[in-house]
Amino acid sequence: TSFFKPIQGASPPPPTSRNTKISVVGVGNVGMAIAQTILTQDLADEISLVDVNADKLRGEMLDLQHAAAFLPRTKISASVDYSSTLGSDLIIVTAGARQIPGESRLNLLQRNLGLFSKMIPPLAAGSPETILLIVSNPVDVLTYVAWKLSGFPSNRVIGSGTNLDSSRFRFLIADHLDLNAQDVQAYIVGEHGDSSVALWSSISVGGVPILSFLERQQIAYEKHTLEKIHKEVVQGAYEVISLKGYTSWAIGYSVASLARSILRDQRSIHPVSVLAKGFYGIDGGEPFLSLPAQLGRSGVLGVTNIHLTEDESQQLRESAKTILEVQSQLGV
Ligand code: NAD
Ligand code: LAC
Repeated sequence: TSFFKPIQGASPPPPTSRNTKISVVGVGNVGMAIAQTILTQDLADEISLVDVNADKLRGEMLDLQHAAAFLPRTKISASVDYSSTLGSDLIIVTAGARQIPGESRLNLLQRNLGLFSKMIPPLAAGSPETILLIVSNPVDVLTYVAWKLSGFPSNRVIGSGTNLDSSRFRFLIADHLDLNAQDVQAYIVGEHGDSSVALWSSISVGGVPILSFLERQQIAYEKHTLEKIHKEVVQGAYEVISLKGYTSWAIGYSVASLARSILRDQRSIHPVSVLAKGFYGIDGGEPFLSLPAQLGRSGVLGVTNIHLTEDESQQLRESAKTILEVQSQLGV
């Protein structure tokens, strides 16, 4: 279009620089919370939405497009066809069944496995250089499935994992001590789910290890207080699901933070689901579970070597065992 006329003596415009394209597969509660957080944070030039429900998909696309006057300029498209994701830099997969109140994440596996066998091969073929970021549950096992089905190197297949659980953990610690959650460095690792592991020994606030911080502040703490906080992390999603039916806002921000670290090459550390073989004494099989990983433009750059107590290592190996047991029944 020639709405504008070039000024006298202007040179022709350079070829358009390459766009950053993010595809979000599944536009339910989670996919839309992610898409809208990514939009407000100006992380992509193009967002492509995919879902099997054509009406819902078009409705969501239009609703986001109608916010254009208030947002950074981003091309938003939607299609029931995976070919619309061609050339994506990042593909975020949220499609699939979610838990009903009281149901475990692992229980979703059979329903979501079939979907993944249909979705992942065409997504990977259309964007052979992309990074796959899996969110659908059970996220650890489905990230393994996506790794196998895509044939991608392991650094380019990541599960959102316990990045969310760790935010819940940091919130609860901050709330307990009346601090800013962003000043609390704390990780939940292992399964995103019931066997997750709280790394109490490495928690710090403003550079001070938390257990000595609590002692110095003369705040009474006992083992059962710490266990109660971890239980609240594990129960957190069940509580939200029983109250509002699903979780969305926290996972939206959690995944947007991962998208930022990856696409903007932030090299920041996130507990996310990665191929954990060879780390922290996990030596059998090829389990995907969350470990503190450094994320950048090529995906997982490495895993940090935090000192774990014997008890924490043991719990992490147990979590790996839980996941491996499920993985071994897949036949992928
Ligand atoms: P939802 O029911 O609102 O949305 C799921 C969407 O997937 C629907 O729009 C459905 O049409 C779509 N879909 C189904 N099959 C598809 C296909 N083949 N291709 C494309 N789209 C398809 O569910 P939700 O609340 O958005 O949850 C989605 C998933 O995310 C669930 O598995 C849930 O457990 C998981 N989840 C994970 C985390 C996490 O931390 N990893 C957090 C919250 C939810
Ligand atoms: C969560 C989902 C349900 O919010 O896995 O933790």
